[in-house]
Amino acid sequence: MTKNDRANFGSKLGVILASAGSAVGLGNIWRFPYETGNHGGAAFILIYLACVLILGIPIMVSEFLIGRHSRANTAGAYQKLAPGTHWRWVGRMGVLAGFLILSYYSVVAGWTLEFIGEAVTDNFAGKTSADYINTFNSFSANPWRPVIWLMLFLFATHFIIVKGVEKGIEKSAKIMMPMLFVLLVILAACSISLPGSGAGLKFLLKPEWDKVNANVFLSAMGQAFFSLSLGMGCLCTYASYFKKDTNLTKTAFSVSIIDTFVAILAGLIIFPAAFSVGIQPDAGPSLIFITLPNVFQQAFSGIPLLAYIFSVMFYVLLAVAALTSTISMHEVVTAYLHEEFHLSRKRAASIVTGGCMFLGILCSLSLGVGRDYTIFGLNLFDLFDFVTAKIMLPLGGLCISLFTGWYLNKKIVWEEVSNNGTLKVTFYKLLIFILRFIAPIAISLIFIKELGFLKL
Ligand code: PHE
Repeated sequence: MTKNDRANFGSKLGVILASAGSAVGLGNIWRFPYETGNHGGAAFILIYLACVLILGIPIMVSEFLIGRHSRANTAGAYQKLAPGTHWRWVGRMGVLAGFLILSYYSVVAGWTLEFIGEAVTDNFAGKTSADYINTFNSFSANPWRPVIWLMLFLFATHFIIVKGVEKGIEKSAKIMMPMLFVLLVILAACSISLPGSGAGLKFLLKPEWDKVNANVFLSAMGQAFFSLSLGMGCLCTYASYFKKDTNLTKTAFSVSIIDTFVAILAGLIIFPAAFSVGIQPDAGPSLIFITLPNVFQQAFSGIPLLAYIFSVMFYVLLAVAALTSTISMHEVVTAYLHEEFHLSRKRAASIVTGGCMFLGILCSLSLGVGRDYTIFGLNLFDLFDFVTAKIMLPLGGLCISLFTGWYLNKKIVWEEVSNNGTLKVTFYKLLIFILRFIAPIAISLIFIKELGFLKL
């Protein structure tokens, strides 16, 4: 494929929304609350915010500039910018990470479809928290239902991917993202108004620093990379479709701000509600699925129609947010197979969908019938999550910052960040300093402290 054959995003808003669509997803609404709950609340959130600001934004700018300059898939990008070197492994590792994340992420994305069904058939009405917990546990451990939803979700992703970049991705992101945002604000207000929600707010706002250890740092860093879709070439691949006049720094700030807002809003919905109805904040991956039905039922107990409408809307929008993220992961792997192995886009996409379906089914079963098979004490689902979010993405981020900070010709960096000198770039020196020193040192330190002896 030559430069000019590659597709482009149609508008500036499209660029931001598609990248934000990749970033905003289950990472914010499902993973952020349960990681926050597992790691003690406010202190985790503050470390997370620091990671977004200090590591996330600079590394996002790096991914953008690598992608736009090379106009290739993530592995091809390194080959173009650093021919004949080992840097291409950074791209390849990203492709592998994308493939693995897509596999287990689709399991949870499938759960959202089941919950759309529950909401539409008004199955949440009149139940207690204990009922919600039981229903969720028996559903996620069921050998069939989650598998069927997971397959359906991957088919939907596949369909959009083969329809092409601009039409599929941009259209869905433009309409649904703003709707999700508005609904989250309404739900946060409702959750905070529940009786006994104060304890949840305290959990979110009052840091307990004595509980902070290296594991909390690693988890917060992993969550920042996961939530911003960083470290695996996803935004690099998207940036290869950006136009020459896209302002990379501004886009990175906008995407990070939107993503962080959504995560914080999710926290403001989940914790006040969880404390209000007595669900433990460290319930793990099931947290939002057992807490939210309570929010809908209790906050709107006098107006069942509103409870109904909001719960249906919420799960539909959550599924769409997950879909804009699965599309972006799928695109990384599909673009790689399509461009590097000269397969047609359709065939490349089919391989990705088939492979993820296989691994996804194993991940789903590992929460039920296969729960006794563990590796390093983790079931397959948790293992995939651990290896990708806590090892591969931060490692990818480390390599990306070293690549841009040290290897890449600074003329290229400057040209991309300033759009050939047409933009005024305030933070250029700071950006380079962070990429050269701060990011590599911070990521390495966290790794060495927590994983130095790889105690999983
Ligand atoms: N950032 C996405 C989310 O928050 C997940 C994701 C991770 C997407 C890595 C692409 C790459 O849901």
